[in-house]
Amino acid sequence: MSNSKGNILFQLTGSIACYKACNVISRLVQEGFEVKTVCSANALKFIGKSTLEGLTHKAVYVDTFEDRSALEHIALTKWLDLAIVCPATANIINKLAAGIGDDYISTVFLAFDFSKPYLIAPAMNQNMYAHPATKRSLGILAGWGVKMLGAGIGYQACGDKGAGRLLEPEAIYKEIKKNL
Ligand SMILES: Cc1cc2nc3c(=O)[nH]c(=O)nc-3n(C[C@H](O)[C@H](O)[C@H](O)COP(=O)(O)O)c2cc1C
Repeated sequence: MSNSKGNILFQLTGSIACYKACNVISRLVQEGFEVKTVCSANALKFIGKSTLEGLTHKAVYVDTFEDRSALEHIALTKWLDLAIVCPATANIINKLAAGIGDDYISTVFLAFDFSKPYLIAPAMNQNMYAHPATKRSLGILAGWGVKMLGAGIGYQACGDKGAGRLLEPEAIYKEIKKNL
């Protein structure tokens, strides 16, 4: 029998803030959660599979059509107790709100059972965060029951200062625990 405190599906998209997500994943594993990771293809330009496999001791999901086991994306929605997209790009936020299912993360989202918690932790440049498309999508997702974690204000990798920073790992960890 598993001693896991809970099953977390941790999904990463293409942002510099992927390195901060590793900190959260490490903490979750150390605290006794079972963590499986999903990466968008672009997330893998910021972080290697080896890091995530080393932290979670599990293979990383990237391609829905990868020959691992049939309908794994559906099995994952049943396995998980909580799903999070962290960091969440403007692209994935707008994609999810449009109901597109053309990669692993968006396909899992379309198959998601919303009696379980689904968290989104945005990370992007301030103009992307303030863009009308992103604002509208954040509202749509919240209306569907997604828990939006908000974003920090401050220094951004591009040199700007403003809203859109990924929350700090400690704050994200606390939100995950609170929402389980
Ligand atoms: C160096 C670099 C940093 C980026 N950081 C971000 C970011 O923090 N947030 C964001 O929304 N997009 C960021 N982008 C753009 C996304 O990677 C791009 O929109 C990509 O298509 C997102 O794909 P995904 O959502 O499938 O991972 C960045 C791009 C580059 C080249």
